Amino acid sequence: MIRNSIVAKLWLTIVAMVVVVLALLSVLLQQFLDHYIYQQQSRQLVRIAQSVQILVNNGETPSTAAQVAQKLTSVQKAHVQVIIAEPIAQNKQLNSEYQHHFTASQKHQFQSGQPVTIHIRAKDRNPEHDSINVYLRISHAKTVGMLEVSQKMSALHAPITLMRNLIVFSVGLSILFTTALAFVLSKNISRPLVQMNKVAEEMADGNFRGKIRVVTTDEVGRLGRTFNTLVSQLDHTIAALSREKEQLSSILSSLNDGVVAADLEGSVTLANPPAVRRFIPLMDPDSDGEIRKLPADLAQLMSSVISKRGPVTRELTWTGREMLVTMTPLYESDGEQIRGVVSVQRDITEERRLDRLRKDFIANVSHELRTPLSMMQGYSEALLDDFGDDREQRIELSEIIHDEAIRMKRLVNDLLNLAQLESGHFQMSMNELNLVQFSERVARKFHAMAQDERITLKLDMAERDIMILGDADRMEQVLTNLMDNAIRHTPENGMVTLRVQAIEAHALIQVKDTGSGISPEDLPYIWERFYKADKSRTRGQGKSGTGLGLAITRYIVLEHGGDIAANSSPEDGTTFTISIPLLGHFIPAKNDGG
Ligand SMILES: Nc1ncnc2c1ncn2[C@@H]1O[C@H](COP(=O)(O)OP(=O)(O)OP(=O)(O)O)[C@@H](O)[C@H]1O
Ligand SMILES: [Mg+2]
Repeated sequence: MIRNSIVAKLWLTIVAMVVVVLALLSVLLQQFLDHYIYQQQSRQLVRIAQSVQILVNNGETPSTAAQVAQKLTSVQKAHVQVIIAEPIAQNKQLNSEYQHHFTASQKHQFQSGQPVTIHIRAKDRNPEHDSINVYLRISHAKTVGMLEVSQKMSALHAPITLMRNLIVFSVGLSILFTTALAFVLSKNISRPLVQMNKVAEEMADGNFRGKIRVVTTDEVGRLGRTFNTLVSQLDHTIAALSREKEQLSSILSSLNDGVVAADLEGSVTLANPPAVRRFIPLMDPDSDGEIRKLPADLAQLMSSVISKRGPVTRELTWTGREMLVTMTPLYESDGEQIRGVVSVQRDITEERRLDRLRKDFIANVSHELRTPLSMMQGYSEALLDDFGDDREQRIELSEIIHDEAIRMKRLVNDLLNLAQLESGHFQMSMNELNLVQFSERVARKFHAMAQDERITLKLDMAERDIMILGDADRMEQVLTNLMDNAIRHTPENGMVTLRVQAIEAHALIQVKDTGSGISPEDLPYIWERFYKADKSRTRGQGKSGTGLGLAITRYIVLEHGGDIAANSSPEDGTTFTISIPLLGHFIPAKNDGG
């Protein structure tokens, strides 16, 4: 707790310092005072002794002088006694037992009439019984004596104790006062630091709104202000950085292309959602779905990028999609060292498909045009060469040429139609149309054809009128193609049914035959231009189509806000079902092409 708190540390340090200093000071003071009192006392005793000496010198008897001295010293509780040894000659040595306490120099001092001060320790070793003794040589009427003025140390005890108590009291008071003051001081000093710590902790949690309350202008105050500036600048910088990062990541995620960056070990450092989507199927199925490593073919590409030190582009096929992958090296800030690679993957499946479609289209058109053209060329050459003498043969040749010309015209018209429909430039003229009446009229056109092919044509019409909003010519084109297809693909004694009904908000037109059907493999593709399910049969029987009919049909139905579907099986034949919104329910299709 203390180790973690700056307040406690500061506080304890100040208190400890003060305690040590005061203790030291009080010990020294104590010693000084002890010494001072002892000195003072000694001097006092010496003065008393000298007073007695003066009295004796002036003719008083030593005992009278001692009594006077005793009286004078009563306040001081000193004891004065004159020890007169055996009368001795003036210069003779005093042979007193007290002289045992004297050192040689003190003896000399004593003999020369100087006062000798001695601190005598008690025999019982109790310092209370110690005493200060002053000895002075006095002479009286030819006798020499020794004056002793002594004072028990215990007499000095009272002032010393008083002083000691005073010191202890003031030290204690100072310590108490210092403790309180040090606490307030350290609390004040450390408050901004504690606040800074709190704000820094908040910053670590991503909150940069914290502020320190700065009240002083000292170093800590300045530190607090600097800290506040730092926090707000960090806040701005981080906000700017995260804005930039968000912008970058939203750009990356809104891209259709996959973008991936990796370090030199092939570990992915950045991958946008399209890249992740495309990589997941390439990953090891046991992995946890995290994209950590580049897929194998990108890793391979990376090694060639690194060895080439330049961008590499390659076409790869991932889970059936064709991808154009470009990889470029990423350099360190020195512009020399490669630190990784960045790769962009573009899905070019659709581009490639359109490309193939375009090529197929040109091939198909050329093919479809070449047949009638070569026939026309052949037959016209025969006519020019006067082939066939009789008029009938020439008419037959001319009819073939005429038919082929019509076929070519139809092909060109169909292509034009389709191009207009696809580009959205086809102008429909929508009118109210009674589908029942309309379908009966179109079906009538096929009576002769059906009879020729020995096919039963059945009409299943609704009892009431079924009104739609439609372009009559275009709808006729639709019905004609479906009926034509049905009759052409139905063998003798078969049946073709045309059914017109209304279900809820839709009109249903069904063309059903009992023909050969369309194989499930072909069924999804019959709507494509030039697609012919049974190539062998549709050509060469004089009733071949171009494969454009259903493509046009579908576009027209879609333009009417409707839909078309085909069901087929070899046993039951084929059924085409068109559904078109009834009048009042038609919502024109949005036309992107304008
Ligand atoms: N009722 C059907 N029964 C069996 N196959 C059909 C039927 N209708 C269409 N198909 C198949 O679908 C193909 C595409 O038909 P679509 O009408 O688009 O072309 P087409 O009839 O060959 O030529 P076009 O209609 O331009 O004269 C046909 O070639 C045929 O193989
Ligand atoms: Mg057709």
